[in-house]
Amino acid sequence: MIDSGSRMRIITTIAEAQAQSHAKCRVIVPTMGALHKAHGEMVRVARKHAGYDGEVALSIFVNPLQFEPGSDYERYPRLEKTDEEFCRNAGVDLLFRPSVAEMYADDRTVFVEETSLSNTLEGKSRPGHFRGVCTVVAKLFNILSADAALFGEKDFQQLVIVRRMVRDLNFKINIIAVPTVREEDGLAFSSRNQYLNPEEREQAAALHKALLAAENAGNKSAREIVDLVRRVISEAPLGRIDYVELVDAETLRPINTVRTNSLLAVAVFFGKTRLIDNIRLG
Ligand code: PAF
Repeated sequence: MIDSGSRMRIITTIAEAQAQSHAKCRVIVPTMGALHKAHGEMVRVARKHAGYDGEVALSIFVNPLQFEPGSDYERYPRLEKTDEEFCRNAGVDLLFRPSVAEMYADDRTVFVEETSLSNTLEGKSRPGHFRGVCTVVAKLFNILSADAALFGEKDFQQLVIVRRMVRDLNFKINIIAVPTVREEDGLAFSSRNQYLNPEEREQAAALHKALLAAENAGNKSAREIVDLVRRVISEAPLGRIDYVELVDAETLRPINTVRTNSLLAVAVFFGKTRLIDNIRLG
């Protein structure tokens, strides 16, 4: 379907996606919708990479495989019309919006699983999450014949794992990292921020405040840094820490002191909403 308000094409089937004529360079922005400013930034960066004769494709698919049982799959925001408008205004060329039935056969038996980097941080708290992410991302790379794909640094572990998948499975695709986009008070943009009530939203600013405190602390031990971050977050009484960890940014293995290429990663609940954030240290 060609959208009447712009040149944006909207497709919902894999057959349509594979029948599309392909621009010289196709850059994709994989998303689960509920689009916000950080997605807008990704489209902007994608456009720059695509060049004047390239194209930007954005996918919207709330991937059931990456939601662990009891999580927010059912209530994840699905804003079809608003997202469509967002894409049109952002200058997306191709919007791919498949259904679950289109993406997954009922009797599917093949998955993509990363087996080392996925065992820490988010992977430890959300078993099966990265298997779902790798499977859908591999499918999107194939379906959309992407030359490049963008991933946000807010989901740093996802970015590292996707890069590993691309290396180990020899995908011919360039992975581009996009720095985290933040609200005025430092809270990283996330589709899940809209679950927060006003009080939780106000207190959620503690996440970034804690990361900045860690950055200003210099080259301390992991224990000192983690204690400091926990202290700052605990100033927000509605926050419930899932993890605060100092790891190597490439291997994601825990490290004892801040050094070059360190990553401090946090996950904190505000009410039922689980927020993640991170900062590079060292
Ligand atoms: O980061 C996300 O929004 C999702 O994990 C992704 C990459 C679109 C895969 O479903």
